[in-house]
Amino acid sequence: MTGDPGPVDPGRVGPGARLLVTGGAGFIGSELVRQLLARRDGTRVTVLDKLTYAGNRANLAAVEADPEQAARFAFVQGDIADAAVAAPLVAEADAVVNVAAETHVDRSILDPEAFLRTGVIGVHVLLEAVRAEADRAARGERAHAPRYLQVSTDEVYGEVAEGRSVETDPLAPRSPYAAAKAAGELLVHAYHVTFGLDVVITRGSNTYGPHQHPEKLIPLFTTNALAGEPLPMYGDGMQVRDWLHVSDHAAGIDFVLRHGAAGEAYNIAGGTELPNREVIARLLAATGRDWSLVRTVPDRPGHDRRYAMDGAKLAALGWTPATSFEVGLPATVAWYREHADWVASAKSGDWDAYYARQYGDRLAAGRAVDGTA
Ligand code: NAD
Ligand code: TYD
Repeated sequence: MTGDPGPVDPGRVGPGARLLVTGGAGFIGSELVRQLLARRDGTRVTVLDKLTYAGNRANLAAVEADPEQAARFAFVQGDIADAAVAAPLVAEADAVVNVAAETHVDRSILDPEAFLRTGVIGVHVLLEAVRAEADRAARGERAHAPRYLQVSTDEVYGEVAEGRSVETDPLAPRSPYAAAKAAGELLVHAYHVTFGLDVVITRGSNTYGPHQHPEKLIPLFTTNALAGEPLPMYGDGMQVRDWLHVSDHAAGIDFVLRHGAAGEAYNIAGGTELPNREVIARLLAATGRDWSLVRTVPDRPGHDRRYAMDGAKLAALGWTPATSFEVGLPATVAWYREHADWVASAKSGDWDAYYARQYGDRLAAGRAVDGTA
């Protein structure tokens, strides 16, 4: 952080605020909840989470085990697309942070519908609930209309051949996941313009760190490497992603919640652009393995070649990420090494069926990779 411009409206999102965090049992949401409660400034957090295969109540064990934090925390299992559950929770909130989503591109290719239900209908249900509360505020029935923050992604810009995406660039999503995220954003923007809702949007880079479901590149390759299992690299492995540590992603969301201007979107850029091959090389070094584990497998359809964002808008407001990839990646590998029970639980349920569907034919067709090439 390079400076603090002061809160937008301390009454709504400052110390003591009541926050509804959807998707708070997932990877980024649980980190956000841990950070919000660890500030010990009276902030109260209610998590609304459906506990899909990606949600894990154990991600919130640290706050539930701390009596002071637990007293300011509540957990509700439910679907953001269910107005009967979501609306009463929005009614009690000073701000809503919508982190909930179906989040894995490969699953959106196998089975897109859940992405649309949560990413479009779910967002619509939350916005309608916020609109009802804004109407109540206008009638003097509550002090403030709730602020609404939509957590989005760099994937809404589509692949970026050159340069870096800025917030005014057109949205050009190319996967069902990214299309659902872009649709959600467009609804949020429309509710700002049409109904005057106080909304902000964050677009984060590819995120890594502890508690990430092992379907994603870094936790999948880390846990497979630790177990001595094959690492399925899509295509030539020269796709570029910009990596952001989860503690920075959550801190960036919190910063935009408190300081972002209504109606604006903010890139939360990691500032570490690397081809997948380079990430894999570093993971092999951190796990003590070599390229003999890596297989090049048939590519993901429509695979975006490169994502890259410009973080200048958020930097100008006073926020930049703090954790370098050089520090964050080995620490992340250590976390997965030390949390074998968490990994085993994440790789249970539908995991084997998913893995066979996603990787069975691919690994059968896979070839060895020359790590020096
Ligand atoms: P995750 O899959 O780990 O967690 C998603 C959480 O949302 C889970 O706890 C799940 O149970 C919950 N959820 C899903 N559908 C729900 C519904 N209908 N109602 C209530 N809860 C529901 O995802 P994540 O990686 O933590 O991503 C969180 C957000 O950040 C998403 O909006 C995602 O699009 C965005 N994002 C993620 C990344 C990344 O690299 N992981 C990067 C940029 C943006
Ligand atoms: P992923 O973690 O799924 O994030 P996203 O698709 O949202 O960027 O993938 C990151 C990169 O790693 C992406 O270029 C796809 C690639 N990848 C593989 O090569 N093999 C895999 O098994 C996975 C899951 C991803």
